[in-house]
Amino acid sequence: MAYLSPLLNVMTGAALKAARGLIRDFGELEHLQVSKKGQSDFVSKADHRAEETILRKLQKARPAYGALLEESGIVSGTDTSNRWLVDPLDGTTNFLHGIPHFAISIALERDGELFAGVVYSPVQDEMYVAEKGGGAFLNGRRIRVSGRRRLDESIFATGIPFKGLENHALFLRQLAAVMEDTAGVRRFGSAALDLAYVAAGRYEGFWENGLSPWGLAAGIVLVREAGGFVTDLEGGQGMLSGDGVLAANTDTHEPLLRMVTAARRAENETTSMA
Ligand code: IPD
Ligand code: CA
Repeated sequence: MAYLSPLLNVMTGAALKAARGLIRDFGELEHLQVSKKGQSDFVSKADHRAEETILRKLQKARPAYGALLEESGIVSGTDTSNRWLVDPLDGTTNFLHGIPHFAISIALERDGELFAGVVYSPVQDEMYVAEKGGGAFLNGRRIRVSGRRRLDESIFATGIPFKGLENHALFLRQLAAVMEDTAGVRRFGSAALDLAYVAAGRYEGFWENGLSPWGLAAGIVLVREAGGFVTDLEGGQGMLSGDGVLAANTDTHEPLLRMVTAARRAENETTSMA
């Protein structure tokens, strides 16, 4: 896509500027002679700096818009129809461990609906963009969700809950169901990129329990504009309210949803009997 709309131009500009800082910090992390605590403080500072850069760029271009940011929370604006949703560093654990798989995610919600999304992977230099009704693009090339229909040829990405999160038992049931019937399950550690990969047809689908809205919003626009379906884990539209996310192509969405809801039912029965 040689032409970017003025809106996407603003969003990609903010992502590229913040990415320069993240790449610098990611490179420095390798050489830091500090404790584990020192490393996570360093990453947390990198994360906050990226967010400040993004917010500054967005506010300069659209001063009236409000925002919901992972680190700073709600920033109110005078234009109540438009709100940015920003995750300055999705894949923080990867970043901290020197794994080059993380992203910046910026979305615009307009009149209560997701309208535009940008996900940028600084290390791979992959810029995913989509605007409602305009299709989805990766580095200027049109992308579409995968055309694979058979589960035994399909791979699915997910997020594995870790210490401090809920749903460990539920996740194991979901995994058991999905791995049984498909060509494989991946856990790469950035939900924004997981969704972008579904949009690009790399994965046939992705599901994760209870994610936060800032890391999901842009990826949802990408998948929809690439011809895919996105719902929460019950088949509804509560993705931004913490009801989880399930994104896939038109053929794999329904069977994936069936597996995940059956796992939920089985888990509910077990807990109600306990
Ligand atoms: C995390 C990533 C990861 C997912 C976690 C998220 P963060 O976001 O998206 O893939 O499994 O649940 O918290 O913390 O790196 O912004
Ligand atoms: Ca984050």
